[in-house]
Amino acid sequence: MPSLLTHDRRPNTKHSRYTTLTKDHMIVTSPHGRDYLLRDLIETLIINNELSARPSDDWRSQALRAAPRDHFVPDRAWVPSRDLSGGYVIDHRIDPDDWLLAVYRDTLLVTKRGDGDIIDTSVPATSAVSRPGVVMRFLELLQPQPGDRVLEVGTASGWTAGLLAHRVGDGNLITIEIDPELSTTAKQNLSKLGLAPIVVTGDATMGSTVREEFDRIHVTCGVRNVPQGWTSQLRPGGVMVLPWMPAHGQRGEILKLQAPLISPWLIGRFCGSTSFIMMSGQDVDIPTSGRRADDESSWTSMRPTQVMEAMPRGFGIFLTAVAPDLAITKAKREEHNDRAAFVMELASLRDDSYATIVADPAYDRTCMTQSGRGLGDILFQAYRQWVRLGKPGRDRFGLWIGPDREVIWLDRPSNAIGARNR
Ligand SMILES: C[S@@+](CC[C@H](N)C(=O)[O-])C[C@H]1O[C@@H](n2cnc3c(N)ncnc32)[C@H](O)[C@@H]1O
Repeated sequence: MPSLLTHDRRPNTKHSRYTTLTKDHMIVTSPHGRDYLLRDLIETLIINNELSARPSDDWRSQALRAAPRDHFVPDRAWVPSRDLSGGYVIDHRIDPDDWLLAVYRDTLLVTKRGDGDIIDTSVPATSAVSRPGVVMRFLELLQPQPGDRVLEVGTASGWTAGLLAHRVGDGNLITIEIDPELSTTAKQNLSKLGLAPIVVTGDATMGSTVREEFDRIHVTCGVRNVPQGWTSQLRPGGVMVLPWMPAHGQRGEILKLQAPLISPWLIGRFCGSTSFIMMSGQDVDIPTSGRRADDESSWTSMRPTQVMEAMPRGFGIFLTAVAPDLAITKAKREEHNDRAAFVMELASLRDDSYATIVADPAYDRTCMTQSGRGLGDILFQAYRQWVRLGKPGRDRFGLWIGPDREVIWLDRPSNAIGARNR
């Protein structure tokens, strides 16, 4: 019987039961069985259009059953809240019901923060089990076929490697993880399910150590610049899917790259907004503490919230094209001069330009304090330009990746609006 789980918050008693709404809106309860939860997750993914409506026809539903997520989630993990401002810990040893419930929700689970405790949100996450809906989207775009040779970047716990190995066959998947502790655990997790893809411990920035071409490359950490090693290892006709996160501090785009049969340039299309843990070696460390923007202050009627709302609707791609060095290091509501305000901080990836932008609702105006190149002006000018172009959405943009350059275009490949050296 189709059902909708009504829990949005975790239950806080050990023996709590899920309350479900049936088709007839009768309240019933159900025990915390894994099969029940997996079925319910699959239903949620179908409702959210992240799985096809006929699970029996979709290899991804079968893979979700063959590599169940609870085999890969460690005993202790952090469940972030939707806006990432908070979260809670699940611990299998303390509350297995609570743990299993979170494992089968469509949510990201943070599993490592460097050497720190997963509770310490001041330390950036370094590993996670990705959100099932995002994983399904990536796999749909990747379209791996049985027998395809696949390279995966960022094994983590091995969950997505398990899904892929189920599809393409064990020996056809090479998955690379930089953290040796994680790759050892991933191998164990996979082998307990009888799956044995090749798990390599190492830095995937240079590509696979194995000299061969791949039909598919599946990247599960954020990428600023697509490494040469990957583009040269994608065979003509091959597909690579990655979280493209070129601008520090901003959400990125799911990027699908295809290798044409006769050109050394890859063709890319943007397929949705996303955010992933950055690939190590490509995360930029911009010092923010102790910096002051004290050169010039000015007022504008532009609202930073408008700009942030436009980011996932095409403006983020446009901004990367026209101002590739601009980094948004903060964008959130906070107390400013004892009043609630929306505060943005901008930094430059190539010099020490810096800006703070404060939208103070009391004045219905925005104050910019800038030093250096006027990053606030650059941001708002780009926004006005994007509006004048008719607010183009992500489907109007495309990307070429050549041997030494990346070119972003609008509407047609000959209309380049920005280029970066690789
Ligand atoms: C979000 S997790 C991957 C999630 C995952 N595949 C899953 O099953 O849901 C990203 C992983 O990429 C790894 N990573 C980061 N930089 C890397 C690099 N340069 N080479 C290989 N792995 C890297 C991290 O250690 C982390 O475990």
